[in-house]
Amino acid sequence: MRRRALLLPALAALAAGCDTAQSVTGGDGSHGEMFNGLFAIFLIVTLLISFLVFGFMLAAIFRRHRPHRDVPGEEAESRDRGFRPALIAWVALVAAGLTLLTSASYLTDRAMQGEARPERLIEIEITANQWWWDVRYQSREPSQTIRTANELHLPVGMPARVTLKSNDVIHSFWVPNLAGKQDLIPGRRTDALLIPKRMGVYRAQCAEFCGAQHAHMALDVTVESWHDFNAWRRAQLRPAPPPATPLAAAGFAYVTSRECASCHNISGTPASGQVAPDLTHLASRRSIGAGTFPMTRGHLYAWIADPQGAKPGNNMPMVGLEADELHAIVAYLETLK
Ligand code: CUA
Repeated sequence: MRRRALLLPALAALAAGCDTAQSVTGGDGSHGEMFNGLFAIFLIVTLLISFLVFGFMLAAIFRRHRPHRDVPGEEAESRDRGFRPALIAWVALVAAGLTLLTSASYLTDRAMQGEARPERLIEIEITANQWWWDVRYQSREPSQTIRTANELHLPVGMPARVTLKSNDVIHSFWVPNLAGKQDLIPGRRTDALLIPKRMGVYRAQCAEFCGAQHAHMALDVTVESWHDFNAWRRAQLRPAPPPATPLAAAGFAYVTSRECASCHNISGTPASGQVAPDLTHLASRRSIGAGTFPMTRGHLYAWIADPQGAKPGNNMPMVGLEADELHAIVAYLETLK
C-alpha cells in the first residue's frame, strides 16, 4: 500500500512532465520530434540487450549453484560445442544492435542537417547577457527590425534561424520542447534552427551555469498562428504610445530624463540606452527579469523599488525613489503595451 502511495504521484509527475512548457520529451518542434524518435530506438535496443544480459547472468548464477555431477568427457565436449552457435548468435545480435543505433543516429543527424537550409525563414539574433536575453528580429529594411527582451514569438510551422552571441560569459540557449541546446560563446557566432510544430507557450532556459542568477535566465517562447504572429510584429514595430494620464506623464518625465534612460531604450522617446533590456513594449511581455516574475503590477513595483532584492547581482542599481515617483513610473511602464 505504501509503495503504491509513493508510485502513483511519481507516475503522475512523469506523465505531467511529458506535456509542459519546459519538457525535453514534448516534441513540439521538428528537431524535438526527431530526438524523441531517436530516443525511442535507443531505449528499445538498450532495454532488449539489458534484459538478455540480465537473463543470461541469472541463468549462469543458478546453473553454478546446481549440485555438482560428474560428466563423462564426451558429453562435456558435445555441450561445449553446443555453446558455439549461441555465442555466434550473441555476437551477431550485439553487432546488429550497434549498427542499428549508429545508423539511426547518423540518419537523424542528416535529416536535421537537411532542414538547416530552408528557403523562407525568420532571422533572429539573440545576445546573452548576465542574466537576460537581448532579442532582435532582423530584416533587410532597418525600419522593420524589432528589438525585445526575454521573449520570442514564432509562427507555427515556419523555420526560424537564431544567431547567438554572448556579451560576457558562456551561456547556452535551450528551448527543450523545440530543439537541442546551443552554446553562446563570447567572441563567436553560433546558430540554432527552430521549427515549431505546435502552438503553445514554452519556456526556454539558459543551460550553462553563468553566475549567481543562472537559474533566473529564462525566455518565454510563444508559438502562434501566422496571423497572430503578424499582429504581434506590427504592434512591436510601433513606437511607445504617449502617456495618457497625468500620473503616467509624470512617470514618462522621470523615466526619459533620469537614470533609466541611460541604460534602457523606449522607441519614440528620448530614452535610448542600449545596455539594458528594451522597454518599448515591456507591458506586453509575460514576465519580468528574464522569467523571474510574472508581469504584474505588484512585481513591477517590487522590481523597480528594489532590483537587487528582486534579483540579487543583476546590473540594475537601486535608484532610491520617492513613493510618488515609484507610482508614476509603474503607471507609465504599464502603458507600454
Ligand atoms: Cu546564462 Cu546560465
